[in-house]
Amino acid sequence: MLIRRGGDIPASQITPESVYLNRRAFVAAAGGVALGALLPPRLRALAGPDDLKPTPYETITTYNNYYEFGTSKESPAKLAGRLKTSPWTVEVAGAAKRTGRYSYEDLVRPFTMQVRIYRHRCVEGWSMVVPWMGFSLGDLIRRLEPTSKAKFVQFTTLDDPAQMPGQRSDILPWPYVEGLRLDEAMHPLTILATGLYGKPLPNQNGAPLRLVVPWKYGFKGGKAIVRITFMETQPMTTWNMAVPSEYGFYANVNPEVDHPRWSQARERPVGEFFKRDTLMFNGYADQVASLYTGMNLRTNY
Ligand code: MTE
Repeated sequence: MLIRRGGDIPASQITPESVYLNRRAFVAAAGGVALGALLPPRLRALAGPDDLKPTPYETITTYNNYYEFGTSKESPAKLAGRLKTSPWTVEVAGAAKRTGRYSYEDLVRPFTMQVRIYRHRCVEGWSMVVPWMGFSLGDLIRRLEPTSKAKFVQFTTLDDPAQMPGQRSDILPWPYVEGLRLDEAMHPLTILATGLYGKPLPNQNGAPLRLVVPWKYGFKGGKAIVRITFMETQPMTTWNMAVPSEYGFYANVNPEVDHPRWSQARERPVGEFFKRDTLMFNGYADQVASLYTGMNLRTNY
């Protein structure tokens, strides 16, 4: 018996991978209109500036960073399968009116799932194009009614060494935590993802709920979120705690600011031979640069 979860969509509406991969076919399947034209005008710009040909499903789901399941790229796909993602509860805490514990289904029910094809740039120098499925984090935040004290949002992810073998080592402080300024969290590009390629999110990619902020390095995208906390002060974030000289709070993709140990000017799309230039804010500068007006992006890395 198939139990439909809040974020699932009927099988009849799931776009097969081959259709995503073949832009022509995708256009045909969409009745002769380009993907952008299907989106409401406000979201049309969100498809992104460059040609976003999705990376194959097999690559996106077998080349992962998820230290709770080991430090190699292959281990999350091998070890995360046993993680129990249903039932799942998300706690909303801190400076908001509607704090409390929500089932995953109740949390996502009000939202229509959207496809967002985003370039995903890891701080290590690789990138992929992922056809995420998810909903606007800003829409959720508005429903949770943050108070005037809320200036930041922290995302806490699952802490369960019984299910997450990587947490038996102290390679990172657990649980993995991430954070955004409230205006970054409310930006229409920021989503909570529940799926990719029209299918529920595989465990190794952060099921059942993970953050996606396309103009920031991939490590901002916390997987397996269990708590959302509205805060007055800037929250701690895992990589900043672990190696503060290398990873800051902002983590905006910036080809002009090198990592202390390597250049960030170029990136290798996973599975491809040639590197490509990394774009300012990962190609989303038109939409997000104004969030950082007047800030020094070298010191706020
Ligand atoms: N979330 C958790 N809970 N644990 C992690 O180790 N790794 C981050 C991020 N989210 C990580 C995490 C890093 S470094 C990256 S690059 C992305 O997840 C990778 O996402 P992907 O495996 O879906 O490509």
